Amino acid sequence: MFTRRLSPTGRRLRVLFAAAEIYPFAKTGGLADVGAALPAALAALGVEVRLILPGYVSALDTAENKRMVLRLPGERGGVLLGRAPDSGLPVYLLDQPDLFRRDGGPYQDRDKHDWPDNFRRFTCFCRAAADLALEGDEDGWAPDLVHANDWHTGLVPALLALHGGPRPASVFTIHNLAYQGNFPLEEAHAAGLPPAMLRPEGAEFYGQFSFLKAGIRYADRLTTVSPTYAREILTTEFGAGMDGLLRDRADDLVGILNGIDQDLWNPAHDGYLPARFDAEDRAGKRCAKAGILAEFGLDPAEDAPLIIGVNRLTHQKMADVVLEALPALLDQGMRIVLHGQGDRELETAFVAAAAARPAQLAVRIGYEEGLAHRLNAAADLALTPARFEPCGLTTMYAMRYGALPVTRPVGGLADTVVDIDERGEDGAPGTGFIFTEPTAAALVASLRRAGRLFRIPSAWGHFQKNAMRRDFGWERSARRYLAVYEEMARSLAAEPARIWVPAAE
Ligand code: ADP
Ligand code: GLC
Repeated sequence: MFTRRLSPTGRRLRVLFAAAEIYPFAKTGGLADVGAALPAALAALGVEVRLILPGYVSALDTAENKRMVLRLPGERGGVLLGRAPDSGLPVYLLDQPDLFRRDGGPYQDRDKHDWPDNFRRFTCFCRAAADLALEGDEDGWAPDLVHANDWHTGLVPALLALHGGPRPASVFTIHNLAYQGNFPLEEAHAAGLPPAMLRPEGAEFYGQFSFLKAGIRYADRLTTVSPTYAREILTTEFGAGMDGLLRDRADDLVGILNGIDQDLWNPAHDGYLPARFDAEDRAGKRCAKAGILAEFGLDPAEDAPLIIGVNRLTHQKMADVVLEALPALLDQGMRIVLHGQGDRELETAFVAAAAARPAQLAVRIGYEEGLAHRLNAAADLALTPARFEPCGLTTMYAMRYGALPVTRPVGGLADTVVDIDERGEDGAPGTGFIFTEPTAAALVASLRRAGRLFRIPSAWGHFQKNAMRRDFGWERSARRYLAVYEEMARSLAAEPARIWVPAAE
């Protein structure tokens, strides 16, 4: 069916990359970073990539040279085409003011309540992306393949699959199975979604309509953001109720580790830092540490490690366990700075804990990109534990800045961190401290181990260098995505003449 849109040999493959957040247009977590870096890396490999996301106020303000390229039927607004400021990639924005021009985040209002009309918001977004993919824009641009990400875009592969005519191919990437986009079935009926989609063999999920299930059920290929998570989600423990369906589709599922933007996150060139440093000369790191201790009013202590936590304050990130472990860590003399936002109750509890021990513990609620860079530069250790972690960019950022992660062997963390007492499968040297049980006792024990090693500067420096020298760049991963696209083209194309050959090779 979709062969019409698989490129004839010679033309560059056209990919429409759809996500609800893409940096710098909108960001709440790692998805936005991937949405910025992966398309740019694919473009560097010769793919013709365009982005699509909702026209939030921040996105409309950020996109350059916007013009209307598709008017949607009914009250559905229009699609603008502009450019991303850094990568220069073309970006489509669904401009529907009543749904997206609001004061608040992409998914929630300022009080952290989900927008009550999220079903409608993301149904509209998915329909606009699917219309664009099927019909093309006013200039005649249409993709060969749609790459959809997370639940907010899960309806796109479904709308394409049920379209019934020639259509582009679809890839759906799962960044986090815990966010599913489940809504009352009646809303889906009322919105006029195809009946086939509303049955258990479709996207019905325990009496609800699930955007995530729609993506998993209908996309031509599935990917997720690390090899270990790709295996974990086939189990009941990590499958979040989707494991049965995922096992059915296991042959179409592949885990590709995210990269990080190694230009943006590079201590040797980082404009946010008071002094630059690299693996060989880490003097600038001491300067960053002194600066952070002073800025947050913590008692300086050269012999005490500085621990940071720059993460969402949620159950996934074990923020509750970190809170429980704090007294024991502070009693060991550690200095701790936490920066993040998330569950309101946890935010309040962390602020209270800092008020009780101001010489050793500081908490800054919110998220500032520059502060995140400076904290990684200052830190000896980075708390990045998780109950589950599809990939975990924060941990890679920490290692790149010589902050050794203290974390658990789940998902992408298992694929990126090697315990300092071990060797990785590929012989990679140790770069962090891994504990297994998701408990405060295990976390404290792990930090005690770290504290002992910290007192041996030569050994510490050795592991810091290991961490800083790891290559987490995007190129290798982007090539893997390209291989998925190419393999799809091969196996889905009816005629050999339509097999796409990447222009870059
Ligand atoms: P997740 O996407 O699950 O939050 P990752 O570690 O993959 O986890 O990515 C986190 C990303 O979000 C990083 O870019 C990090 O700098 C950023 N970040 C960390 N804490 C916050 C926060 N409180 N608010 C917004 N972004 C944050
Ligand atoms: C999700 C996951 C995180 C991953 C990110 C980018 O937010 O929680 O582990 O790194 O997506 O793929």
